[in-house]
Amino acid sequence: MESFKGFRRTHYCGTLRASDIGKEVSVCGWVQRRRDLGGLIFVTVRDRSGIVQCTFDEAYRKDLFDKAGELRSEYVVAIRGTVRSRGEGAINKDMPTGEIEILTEELRILSRAETPPFEIVDGLKANDALKLKYRYLDLRRPEMQRNIELRHRAAQLTRNFFSAEGFYEIETPMLTKSTPEGARDYLVPSRVHPGSFYALPQSPQQYKQILMMAGFDRYMQIVRCFRDEDLRADRQPEFTQIDLEMSFVDIDDIISINERFIRKLFAELLGVNVEIPFRRMPYKEAMERYGSDKPDLRFGFEIRDISDIAGKCGFKVFSSAVQEGGSVRLIKVDSGATMTRKEIDSLSEFVKTYRAKGLAWLKQQDGAVTSSFGKFLTEEENAAIIQRAEMKDGDIIFVVADANDEITLTSLGALRVEVAKRLGLLRRDDFRFLWVTEFPLFEYSEEEGRLVARHHPFTAPMDEDIDLFYTAPEKCRAKAYDMVLNGTELGGGSIRIYTREMQNRMFEILGFSREEAEARFGHLLNAFKYGTPPHGGLAFGFDRIVMLMAGCDSLRDVIPFPKVQNASEPMTNCPSPVTEEQLKELGIAVINSEE
Ligand code: AMO
Ligand code: AMP
Repeated sequence: MESFKGFRRTHYCGTLRASDIGKEVSVCGWVQRRRDLGGLIFVTVRDRSGIVQCTFDEAYRKDLFDKAGELRSEYVVAIRGTVRSRGEGAINKDMPTGEIEILTEELRILSRAETPPFEIVDGLKANDALKLKYRYLDLRRPEMQRNIELRHRAAQLTRNFFSAEGFYEIETPMLTKSTPEGARDYLVPSRVHPGSFYALPQSPQQYKQILMMAGFDRYMQIVRCFRDEDLRADRQPEFTQIDLEMSFVDIDDIISINERFIRKLFAELLGVNVEIPFRRMPYKEAMERYGSDKPDLRFGFEIRDISDIAGKCGFKVFSSAVQEGGSVRLIKVDSGATMTRKEIDSLSEFVKTYRAKGLAWLKQQDGAVTSSFGKFLTEEENAAIIQRAEMKDGDIIFVVADANDEITLTSLGALRVEVAKRLGLLRRDDFRFLWVTEFPLFEYSEEEGRLVARHHPFTAPMDEDIDLFYTAPEKCRAKAYDMVLNGTELGGGSIRIYTREMQNRMFEILGFSREEAEARFGHLLNAFKYGTPPHGGLAFGFDRIVMLMAGCDSLRDVIPFPKVQNASEPMTNCPSPVTEEQLKELGIAVINSEE
């Protein structure tokens, strides 16, 4: 291996242009590819900025030409040479550096490489397990380099934006108190206090509220959060929030500053013009029209209620759903009548995963109506449904009936997205933002047999619903809001309770005794005693923002070292067992290490 001593890089590979012709330059990087053309060797060298072609000419420098013959993919090299034009026929328009090449005058081989387990190229098809095991190679791929660069730029812009708006960046602890509510905690054993545990923060929620009580007025932090919950494409056990909190504000203040933030982020990093203010939609409307609290507005197919028509019809599946207190609803898919039976059957299987019992359909094609349920209905009922759906020739409708309205809505909500996906309607460069507002403050947990906070137990009730908070909390709406982009919840927050009295009432509704509330949240309740400003805030899923900006489907594409399905990390193989000694020191005995 050769020494790097005395070598000075002058340029990043991908930055060289025709305007550099004639200059002597030095670049460093990895060998992408070597091509031998008898008397000439072309080597493309890659660094984080891109690639450049380096040429070795046997007639010009036989020694370097021979040495270049040793180069293999992923060798690390340092090259000095002169930039020259490639000449007419040889220009590569697909490469930013395609007009030029470096005629090599010095080659140092700094590091050799074994043949990598996959090629370092965009659009790689290799399986995820392999990619993550060799994450350093996966991350070398240009698309991953671009994603991580985008993430960096988004983080910088975020800090600058909020700083300019008067926010302080303040850190909060990673070793915190475990409190109930929310997801499962990641626990960290205390050596000094055997049998006691810290929890890694699920979010800095209580700290940021206490920072408002401490008088900091505006707080922001780009902060790691930990939740021991099941992984999905848009969920990681360890993820990053842009977390913020403001004093002396109400909903509109928080909404407005975050709209301006998103507008700037998209303008500066993507050159995309985001219109503000965003549309706002109450939760109830989102559920009834889109079957989701995070509706994707890139396409139509809105849900319509046909319970009034179907409830009295002769088709038992429909009528009994309505009679049992549920509903019959439909979506219309424009120009969907060309769907085959096989496609419809597979959609029918799809809705079953959302607990729907079946999927009825009706299509109108070349004037003829065919349907899975028409024969059970009168002509008038069929006509009324067609009219309610506002069907045109060539359309298809899908109907779900269920005694549980939530199943009807959520299954049709998922179906509308699935159909749009299959029809290729989910454009990644179409950004449809909205705020979902007026969430229920509570939801009933079957598992726990009690009301639980839908957002978290520090969220204030809507001013209009204050009475309900004391009389019928299950009907109370929250001062909470979610920012939604293309079917993904980008962020969420709320205006907080700021009196001890109201916070106590909240814990009472959640079924905590005074003593329990005191033991778990005493610090917050105490702080309320000494002067608390009205405050509220929001947290964005930073990884999710970057994922959607980068046009990716998975958080893995924008997190350098993500976890996989079973919450392990394939490169380092964590989590892993620790020594008996370590356990002993912590006063911990592992009961069952299998499983
Ligand atoms: P919430 O729990 O809604 O609110 O989280 C805020 C945002 O964080 C993102 N997010 C996640 N991203 C990746 N993986 C996960 N497992 C994950 N969980 C959440 C989402 C979500 O919108 N303290 C409150 C905020 C507040 O009230 O101010 C909170 O954490 O994009
Ligand atoms: P069947 O009489 O069971 O063949 O059902 C007739 C049609 O109704 C089929 O297309 C079924 O998929 C559909 N179907 C069955 N249950 C439901 C339901 N709960 N909601 C909507 N359609 C259903």
